[in-house]
Amino acid sequence: MEYDWLIENVNIATFAADTDGYGIQEKAAVAIQGNEIVFVGPMDAWSKDHSNIEVRRKIDGAGKWVTPGLIDCHTHLVFGGNRAEEFEWRLQGESYESIAKKGGGILSSVRHTRALSLEDLYRQSAPRLERLLEEGVTTVEIKSGYGLDTETEIKMLRVAKMLEEHYPVTIKTTFLGAHAVPPEFQHFDHPKQAYINHICSEMLPAIAAQKLADAVDVFCEGIGFSADQCEQVYQAAQQYNLPIKAHAEQLSDLKGAVRAAQYQAISVDHIEYLNAEDVSQLRSTVAVLLPAAFYCLKETQLPPIEALRKNNTPMAVATDLNPGTAPVASLLTAMNQACILMGLTPQEALKGATHFAAQALDIKTKGQIKTGFDADILLWNIQHPAELAYGVNFHRPACIWQAGKLKGGKEASRYGF
Ligand code: NIG
Ligand code: FE
Repeated sequence: MEYDWLIENVNIATFAADTDGYGIQEKAAVAIQGNEIVFVGPMDAWSKDHSNIEVRRKIDGAGKWVTPGLIDCHTHLVFGGNRAEEFEWRLQGESYESIAKKGGGILSSVRHTRALSLEDLYRQSAPRLERLLEEGVTTVEIKSGYGLDTETEIKMLRVAKMLEEHYPVTIKTTFLGAHAVPPEFQHFDHPKQAYINHICSEMLPAIAAQKLADAVDVFCEGIGFSADQCEQVYQAAQQYNLPIKAHAEQLSDLKGAVRAAQYQAISVDHIEYLNAEDVSQLRSTVAVLLPAAFYCLKETQLPPIEALRKNNTPMAVATDLNPGTAPVASLLTAMNQACILMGLTPQEALKGATHFAAQALDIKTKGQIKTGFDADILLWNIQHPAELAYGVNFHRPACIWQAGKLKGGKEASRYGF
């Protein structure tokens, strides 16, 4: 028998489901065949039991660390233009909400995104994805939500799919029609309700028919939609067997997270204003923490981290990469911010950007170094995995395998990449 790769003499932060903490294996090896992990275990066990296996390519890790590929489970990285001007207004004291109310914010990005061709939207979005990939991100979720009409939402989701064709990454797409009310609906008596009806009867069916979305998201907020309106979207999503996610409790407590959990949401995201007493109602829904948005908005209300821990709620960490609240194309930075601003441990931050990020996307074969899992694997030149959240811009992977192929990393050229 032949395996494609053996990465030997490494320490592994496996984050395997049946282990605690980092799930560390020391003096270990990982083997890859095709796009799958086929062996994880101590060097001794490899040497003893695998003498009949030929290995095509071997790397002596010399004590380096292996982790699962990073997973950014919440981004809006496909968008047109930028909002640097609004950044200046906010620095002068204007609030995110007041800018949104006067037609800036999300609607400003909608104008830019609508104006671009598919190709130009791709060209503007690709460099942001490249920044994530350089750090070892191998799976990215990308939301629509800057089109707010069927045509532009489809254009955004198509760009997300094109990115997956051109880069070594798994992309999960999320339809976020319920992000803001588009200008065409502003003259209705009940603009929000009219637009929600349109999402459920026109937009979602069109997007589901073209299989362009893996999930459906909403913005449950005063400047977004009420919990009842979001519920209408969840019911429509159920008809197409699409899992739901929610931007909830980012700026106020509308009980949106609990409502989403009642519809088996795979994640509720932001949740700074989630009441600690409501945490027990989240069931198995993943809490996605977005510290880069917290940082950029100079938010002071912290998510109920201690209550989430006590309730054993899985906590993921993502960038929220978007033109408004989080122009931050670095998941490692978001992990650092999760520790410094929100009080996560480096172990929680890394598990939140691997194992629990996979869970937030309902992916069962990623986020762990485990036999049978996808071979999305990083090799790091570090002494301990806590270093990944500790430094800002300290580390890039030495090697990045995506779907079993060596696709990058600082030392990849040594191994024929
Ligand atoms: O996750 N909160 C809603 N959506 C984005 C921000 C979108 C924007 O400002 O463009 C978020 O923070
Ligand atoms: Fe977001």
